[in-house]
Amino acid sequence: MLIPVEGVLSGDEVRRFRARLDRAAWQDGARTAGTLARAVKCNQQLADEAPLARELGDAIVRRLGSTPLFISAALPSKIHPPKFNRYQGGGHYGAHVDSAVMHLPDGRALRSDLSATLFLTDPADYDGGELEVEGAFGIQAVKLAAGDLVLYPSSSLHRVTPVTRGARVAAFFWIESLVRCDSARTALFDLDQAIQGLGDGLPADDPNRLRLTAVYHNLLRLWAAT
Ligand code: NI
Repeated sequence: MLIPVEGVLSGDEVRRFRARLDRAAWQDGARTAGTLARAVKCNQQLADEAPLARELGDAIVRRLGSTPLFISAALPSKIHPPKFNRYQGGGHYGAHVDSAVMHLPDGRALRSDLSATLFLTDPADYDGGELEVEGAFGIQAVKLAAGDLVLYPSSSLHRVTPVTRGARVAAFFWIESLVRCDSARTALFDLDQAIQGLGDGLPADDPNRLRLTAVYHNLLRLWAAT
């Protein structure tokens, strides 16, 4: 399931990020692609070890830790440090699937359960550049407001269509979830959102709200691998 998380960064924060990213030294993205992906990857990327990439990536991860919708949807156990890419002048990334196992800077392995793209360009400022994700219901095209993020299963084939005007700048990263199974994680997300949706009309100690909350935690206890 594709899950948009709106407003991870404010407009002001996006402008501050962009002011610094636009002056950064971008590299050919093919340098970091695997053998198969290299043939279809045509974009630019910041070096992982660049101080700017680390600083902005850390800021994004800190923000995600205080973004309830992201926590509810991803149930993260590990988050890969965000990377930054730029597509312009026809830049694109053909259909590919992300690597199943990645390595964190400290050497630990991360199983990619979810992929995330955080959009850093206003959609009015570029043409093309849709993230297309193949799923059970066909291909879904995603192009969100600057500061919004989309989560999608890392197991899905996806691509970025050619950017024919302007530049598409984004952060992207992967998440290992406490709940590996996509359908179990999605059911937990739906249950959590439904409980939140009960709203303020019900008292906090409403017995049915309490029972539903207990069901949520007991299912998470059943399915979470720590
Ligand atoms: Ni990818």
